[in-house]
Amino acid sequence: MLLEVKDIHVHYGKIEAIKGISVEVNEGEIVTLIGANGAGKTTTLKTISGLRPLTSGSVIFDGQDISKMPGHKRVEAGLGQAPEGRGIFPGMTVHDNLLMGAYARSGDVSAELTQAYELFPRLAERRTQFAGTMSGGEQQMLAIGRALMAKPKVLLLDEPSMGLAPLLVKQIFEIIEEINRRGTTVLLVEQNAQQALQLAHRAYVLETGSIVKSADASALLDDPAVRAAYLGGDLGEPSPNGQH
Ligand SMILES: Nc1ncnc2c1ncn2[C@@H]1O[C@H](COP(=O)(O)OP(=O)(O)OP(=O)(O)O)[C@@H](O)[C@H]1O
Ligand SMILES: [Mg+2]
Repeated sequence: MLLEVKDIHVHYGKIEAIKGISVEVNEGEIVTLIGANGAGKTTTLKTISGLRPLTSGSVIFDGQDISKMPGHKRVEAGLGQAPEGRGIFPGMTVHDNLLMGAYARSGDVSAELTQAYELFPRLAERRTQFAGTMSGGEQQMLAIGRALMAKPKVLLLDEPSMGLAPLLVKQIFEIIEEINRRGTTVLLVEQNAQQALQLAHRAYVLETGSIVKSADASALLDDPAVRAAYLGGDLGEPSPNGQH
């Protein structure tokens, strides 16, 4: 197992936002966490990436307990992150933002740059543009491209489809699939449950700080309770079973 979150509890002051969550991610998988606003998805990702401290429990990555490791060391260890709200550097060019993603690495980064521009041709067209003047969707592409520059073993994505038009959502999901096909494991947080479940191999459903369900993503797509709560009831088409 590449990433294992073991019974974590996380507090904001006295409020327990995460009440004992366990998540496992195997090498090569796309795993998704779905759940309503405030369920604890971002907090779970922040705890994995080291931006929030644990009250108890542990995070094991690549065989090592990283629960107390500082965030930048986790990036060096191979945990790539594209945070919610993007977090790009607005006053820097697209190109320099990408280079910043490789800050923790020494040596030649040209292969990763080529890959980022290949995955996101839009970034290649705009490599000298200031990141702050890019559209929302372009900034999202840049955030993912920048995370890939660190050559992560696992890519943590927090709502990559947020605020994007349907066509762009489809594109972003296709690119995530391509990133996974090229060998990067993905842990994806999404409110866009339908698309996340179509993309992912396995999924966890979060409700108010706890995991209420975990299964193969295709099984959750067909689960009546999940459909009612997260997929707009029975209105959608039944999923083609087992497809990713
Ligand atoms: N900095 C903070 N201080 C206090 N409470 C917080 C803080 N950040 C998050 N919370 C609370 O923790 C809970 C989980 O929030 P979190 O951001 O993890 O949810 P989420 O599942 O990512 O939601 P969304 O889908 O809206 O992004 C919520 O009740 C939220 O109000
Ligand atoms: Mg969130």
